Amino acid sequence: ASIEKGGYEHFMLKEIYEQPKAIYDTFRGRLLPDQNMIKMGGLFEYKEKFLNANRIIIVGCGTSWHAGLVGEYLFEDLARIPVEVEYASEFRYRNPVITDQDVVIAISQSGETADTLAAIKLAKEHGATIFGICNVVGSSIARETHAGAYTHAGPEIGVASTKAFTAQVTVLSLLAIEIAKMKGTLSETRYHELLEELNGIPKKMEAMLQSDSKVREISERFKDATNCLYLGRGYNFPVALEGALKLKEISYIHAEGYPAAEMKHGPIALIDENMPVFVIAPRNGQYDKIVSNIQEVKARNGKIVAIVSEGDTEIAKMSDFTLEIPDSSEAFSPLLTTVPLQLLSYHIAVMRGCNVDQPRNLAKSVTVE
Ligand code: G6P
Repeated sequence: ASIEKGGYEHFMLKEIYEQPKAIYDTFRGRLLPDQNMIKMGGLFEYKEKFLNANRIIIVGCGTSWHAGLVGEYLFEDLARIPVEVEYASEFRYRNPVITDQDVVIAISQSGETADTLAAIKLAKEHGATIFGICNVVGSSIARETHAGAYTHAGPEIGVASTKAFTAQVTVLSLLAIEIAKMKGTLSETRYHELLEELNGIPKKMEAMLQSDSKVREISERFKDATNCLYLGRGYNFPVALEGALKLKEISYIHAEGYPAAEMKHGPIALIDENMPVFVIAPRNGQYDKIVSNIQEVKARNGKIVAIVSEGDTEIAKMSDFTLEIPDSSEAFSPLLTTVPLQLLSYHIAVMRGCNVDQPRNLAKSVTVE
């Protein structure tokens, strides 16, 4: 078993470290910055459907649903297509309005999640075009879709999803950028810049993974917390949700993710000197707004751990701890900000003696409804 783990103590840690490769493998042969193009067979075949879509509906569960939320920001921001992101289980039981003008993107690591599979069957009956983003080749969901693009993250063994998430976000980025180009909502220059930048993400991630001593120090400090709050805005709001989910899943600490500005409508009541608040605050995402959210937490003696861009000093001064990520466009920041939060959850769970790869009550793929 230790050989399978490639020298890592757990599959989850191995899979966190495999992310630069998972992303690279996912865009290899598709992202071609030198030729200034993106090549995706599944997309080109159904190009007209995407271009004429009234809206895109993204369905998934768990971490895949969070990737879908990042997709919502990408498609609306870059391609100007309205998007709805749905929990597969809610969508199917709601008598949803679906037409043959809709494109449904189903996201699933395993390709076997029962609710997601049932949701796409329903959408198909109503004439929608179904595009799959799965990691497992030949899985039930992959077979049920009209077209799709696999994530090439390799097998994910740890129950808590890590590399599948960043690989899903990578596929969504490729799709959104290419559809935006076809729709003419992106300038030629910006298109090229985005291709170059996405191409550079695995290197940036690699650099971030070099040292996790700071993450360990923070984990040590907060391992006995009973509640944690995760805040983010814009593209990093889904990352806040995912950060909280990861902590809950493997450390059994209660955690909530919230849009930073929405904190004042509830969670702020919980903040005291015992409450760690993880704030995702890269330079490119509504920076000034998040600075004032941090001040609101500080004023109530909350403990701030901020994920900031390299060289940030302003937020660093207000925070108890900071973790730096390389600079990027806001659109790609989730690929970077997610990583330190995964590591934090991992180390906290290990320090608490939890079974990281197989947390209690959870299954890698939920094939029952
Ligand atoms: C389970 C797993 C999660 C996963 C979710 C959706 O809850 O524990 O890690 O995100 O199912 O799985 P899928 O295979 O459809 O992405």
